[in-house]
Amino acid sequence: MDFNLSEEQLMIQQAARDFAQNELLPGVIERDRDQKFPTEQVKKMGEMGLLGMMVDPQYGGAGMDSVSYVLAMEEIAKVDASAAVVMSVNNSLVCAGLEKFASEEQKVKYLTPLASGQVIGAFALSEPEAGSDATSQKTTAEDKGDYYLLNGIKNWITNGGTASYYIVIAQTDPEKKHKGINAFIVERGWEGFEIGLKEDKLGIRGSDTHSLIFNNVKVPKENRIGADGFGFNFAMAVLNGGRIGIASQALGIASGAYELALKYAKTRKAFKTEIINHQAIAFKLADMATQITAARMLCFKAACEKDAGKDISESGAMAKLYSSQVAMDTTIEAVQIHGGYGYVKEYHVERLMRDAKITQIYEGTSEIQKIVISRSIAK
Ligand code: CAA
Repeated sequence: MDFNLSEEQLMIQQAARDFAQNELLPGVIERDRDQKFPTEQVKKMGEMGLLGMMVDPQYGGAGMDSVSYVLAMEEIAKVDASAAVVMSVNNSLVCAGLEKFASEEQKVKYLTPLASGQVIGAFALSEPEAGSDATSQKTTAEDKGDYYLLNGIKNWITNGGTASYYIVIAQTDPEKKHKGINAFIVERGWEGFEIGLKEDKLGIRGSDTHSLIFNNVKVPKENRIGADGFGFNFAMAVLNGGRIGIASQALGIASGAYELALKYAKTRKAFKTEIINHQAIAFKLADMATQITAARMLCFKAACEKDAGKDISESGAMAKLYSSQVAMDTTIEAVQIHGGYGYVKEYHVERLMRDAKITQIYEGTSEIQKIVISRSIAK
């Protein structure tokens, strides 16, 4: 087991760190306040290869490994968790799903602009009445011969208002339950496809979360991904990888809060000494550092297993379950260490605490991760 990063991985980590400090940090408080999407920054992330990191260069990607992805995600999320989720969804849910399962024509037409960052994508599975219980899809896609007629509503869709292409999961044959579900590539602007309301969220407020409304949208048959009835298995397979992205986002939120708390504790004085010299504070920081290191190892393990072509349902779920808990615990303690300063926007940690919560909810709640892990270990 080699715990050393390669030169290339260190370079990617440094490039993402520099980008986060120089391009994401300025304005991050205002974007959170105003719910402003980081349009210019995401464009630059595309130019840097951060939006299709693991995709084959043949399809516009950067051809990197998944450990590099974890490293870059951590650095971006440390500073701007909203930009990190845009990156995670585009990389792990949209590009990875298309690269693994789409037809050659679909890859050329859709994956190439998505992986090169010319456009961004969204993944539409959740519905008003189907979140964790993903098989209970109410959105329908009726087979009309050479096209499907798509009807229904999707909820809480990341990149919902800014994406150009959407992977939409829908029920084509309710009698077949999950075997009657399909995944489709839907283009923004198609007749009957309306972008619904933008959500006013607790955290990741710079990201763009919308409902989507499909009213008799004609989807050409060639836009179905994989064989008929493959949509649910497609979604599950994609989410296994997606969980590495969100685990790394959570890791970044935690390490961002930890670094700020450590810096503050080394300079802030109380009772005639820097507060890091008080054991009450030092022990909090020791716990944070230990848990963050453990979370990082779980992310690396899942990433290495993904690159080795192994089943990552268990390791991805473990990484997400643990890292998201660490993100919550660390950010709460980072606010506590900052005292009154932690409660105001200027010091960043209150934003990180709000951002952390969603990592325990999206791409499978912590309870769903425990279902996935327990089923895997019971096998
Ligand atoms: N990996 C691969 N396949 C899986 C799987 C996994 N982790 N979990 C289930 N499957 C497969 C099963 O093998 C089975 O396939 P076969 O019939 O071919 O054998 C099929 O899926 C159905 O499995 P189950 O009977 O176990 O299904 P279930 O109804 O009990 O549900 C579940 C399983 C794990 C709870 C699933 O519904 C689930 O993961 N729910 C959470 C959904 C989720 O993560 N939503 C997040 C929305 S996306 C998002 O948040 C994106 C964003 O914008 C940030």
